[in-house]
Amino acid sequence: MAAEAGLRERLEREVLPDLLRPVGEARGLPHWAYTDPAAWELERRTVFREGWIGVAYDSDLPKPGDCFPVEYAGHRLLLTRGQDGVLRAFHNLCPHRGMPLLDAPRSNCRTIACPWHAWTFGLDGALVATPNIGGVNRHADPSAEPVGLAPLACGTWLGVVFVDISGRAGSLADWLAPMQARLAAFDLALTEEAPGEAVDHVYPANWKQVIEGAVEDYHIPWVHKQVGPQGRYEAVVGQRFLGVSSWRDMATAKARLPPGPDGVEPEPLPLFPHLPASGEFEASLILTMVPSPVVAAQIGHVAVSLYVPLDPTRTLVRRRFRFLREAASGERHAAARRRVRDSWQIVTDQDAWVHEAIQGSLAAREAAGFRARFSPFWEGAVHHFQALVAARMLGRDLG
Ligand code: FES
Ligand SMILES: [Fe+2]
Repeated sequence: MAAEAGLRERLEREVLPDLLRPVGEARGLPHWAYTDPAAWELERRTVFREGWIGVAYDSDLPKPGDCFPVEYAGHRLLLTRGQDGVLRAFHNLCPHRGMPLLDAPRSNCRTIACPWHAWTFGLDGALVATPNIGGVNRHADPSAEPVGLAPLACGTWLGVVFVDISGRAGSLADWLAPMQARLAAFDLALTEEAPGEAVDHVYPANWKQVIEGAVEDYHIPWVHKQVGPQGRYEAVVGQRFLGVSSWRDMATAKARLPPGPDGVEPEPLPLFPHLPASGEFEASLILTMVPSPVVAAQIGHVAVSLYVPLDPTRTLVRRRFRFLREAASGERHAAARRRVRDSWQIVTDQDAWVHEAIQGSLAAREAAGFRARFSPFWEGAVHHFQALVAARMLGRDLG
């Protein structure tokens, strides 16, 4: 805790004032924000606890009776889908002595029994049995106070399961509204998640580094050469989200996918109906809800990515793909879906060495007294992200 108090002091006095300068003059987060266990603990109590956070996919629990444990930044969570079809979230901790209840997904559950002393819970969290609590074959004890699982508020949007770990976030609808308003031109309600298409990757880097790589297009001509011309670009910043917007004409937008196998073009994907046939339009809008998920709306698909911080230096990205309804499943668009998935896999792999190299240079940064600088044109969202995280670590929102 002493270390945490010292970090707060440094954030307040040294880091946030430097970050709040105009983007061209600002200095980035120091190396310790990406490595120090005390910084991670502070984030766990703030950024990873306050507000609604996307931690899983609805499709992780497709059927009644499915149970799905989630470890998110050290928070042990348990999602269940009751026989009534209702999704619920709990702490994955037995209310008796704190044993984790599940360590792997399960299906066809009616109840969950704790592996230690067999207290048993319904999928709604209610305690249904306490075997032998009062002695051998005495399954009740009037002097004990057994309780059910501690529930957490949860909800879904765009196939993502959000939880409110602190219980202080207010309604999910209110929380999501500003980001949904910015995405409104893309009629996301027309999309469905494609079963079986996924890009999952563990980067050996701090979660902030991974997100910073996702919210600027500055590096694209050098790291992702295959995606072609960039078009008109602008950073997007909000109080709870940030990202990048790119304007292109239709030919340029379509050319960003790799060629089909053997040069054979797959059946084209249906595109969002609001897109014009000619002229320049917003062809890509990639928004990060801090800290998770990232929503990347493109002309004919949406990539949704959960960012799951595993520890201070490892981040799991779980990416799923949504297509306009009839294209989300079925053989007719299978090749086109695979091409979209493959294009994201290529980008994911290309980013991996950058994240690893940056994370590996942090000790050298410390020795050199290094602080990052930003391109005002390209890195407004990176700058805003760092300031937003520093403010949240101090328990504040950016105004
Ligand atoms: S810790 Fe779960 S029943 Fe004892
Ligand atoms: Fe990248």
